[in-house]
Amino acid sequence: MFAEKVILITGGSSGLGKALARRLLAQKARLVLLARDSGKLADARQELIGNGPPGAEIDTFPCNVADRRAVEKVFSDVADKAGPPDVLINSAGILREGYFECQTADTFREVMDINFFGTLYCIQAVLPYFKEKGGGKIVNICSVAGLTGVFGYTAYCASKHAVRGLTGSLRAELKHQNVSIHIVYPAEFESPMVDELNACRTEENRKVAGTIPILTADAVADEIISGLLKNRYEITPGVATRILTGFERVFPAFGRVVSDLQVRRIYKGPDHKKQQAD
Ligand SMILES: NC(=O)c1ccc[n+]([C@@H]2O[C@H](COP(=O)([O-])OP(=O)(O)OC[C@H]3O[C@@H](n4cnc5c(N)ncnc54)[C@H](OP(=O)(O)O)[C@@H]3O)[C@@H](O)[C@H]2O)c1
Repeated sequence: MFAEKVILITGGSSGLGKALARRLLAQKARLVLLARDSGKLADARQELIGNGPPGAEIDTFPCNVADRRAVEKVFSDVADKAGPPDVLINSAGILREGYFECQTADTFREVMDINFFGTLYCIQAVLPYFKEKGGGKIVNICSVAGLTGVFGYTAYCASKHAVRGLTGSLRAELKHQNVSIHIVYPAEFESPMVDELNACRTEENRKVAGTIPILTADAVADEIISGLLKNRYEITPGVATRILTGFERVFPAFGRVVSDLQVRRIYKGPDHKKQQAD
């Protein structure tokens, strides 16, 4: 399914994007990785090539997906160098956690710009190439935070809910253009994003997020590849995540009650944070 295909992964220098790259390279895909930091991209390329099959090909392009013009330019450069993409995986993303009153409108804008508009711009940029080729595949890495509200994730949840709405509507339109789109709802997994989060997250968020056992990025990537091979529209990695999100879809009040009970015992709130800072 992936052999000889040009697969473009945004956020391919780290975490889940890199774990997916490793698997797709083993299946002889021609990879293109996008991220902002060219040093991290070069390190990831070297690591992947070093552990990949003989003759593995990876191109890297520094690009901020929140910059629409830069995205358009980079997709044209990719088409010139590696060929037009067959598959686009939108994994680039950021997380800003904290009490709502400690998050400014700029925080919301930053998160929406990368998680939502970054995904949108890459899809807009790839579609003309898919049209030329007669089809293609898009994989949007969303989150359980795109299915439900989570304490401390007001900005992040808003961005991931937007990704879910976009993906659902696009699925209905693109199906008739031979473009398949897939959405992934991981719960928390080990990655540099979570290392950064763990350094400063609120206790309430830590408690609520801890309800679902944490996976490795490799385990999440394995389930994504397996879901894509089965042509699943929605891919929810991890048995516990599937059970809990499935239950919550039928009984939406369940998650709210559990989360409220968990937080009630330990709630500190934004005033406590402000006092600490003074
Ligand atoms: N880790 C989790 O627990 C978890 C759970 C559910 C969903 N997710 C989602 O999974 C995806 C991958 O997360 P991860 O944990 O693998 O994160 P990560 O290790 O921090 O990797 C994020 C990647 O995105 C790139 N990136 C960030 N902002 C970018 C921008 N503006 N333009 C281009 N590239 C950008 C980063 O590179 P540069 O910084 O160099 O640009 C990096 O390559 C994200 O969409 C995240 O929301 C993560």
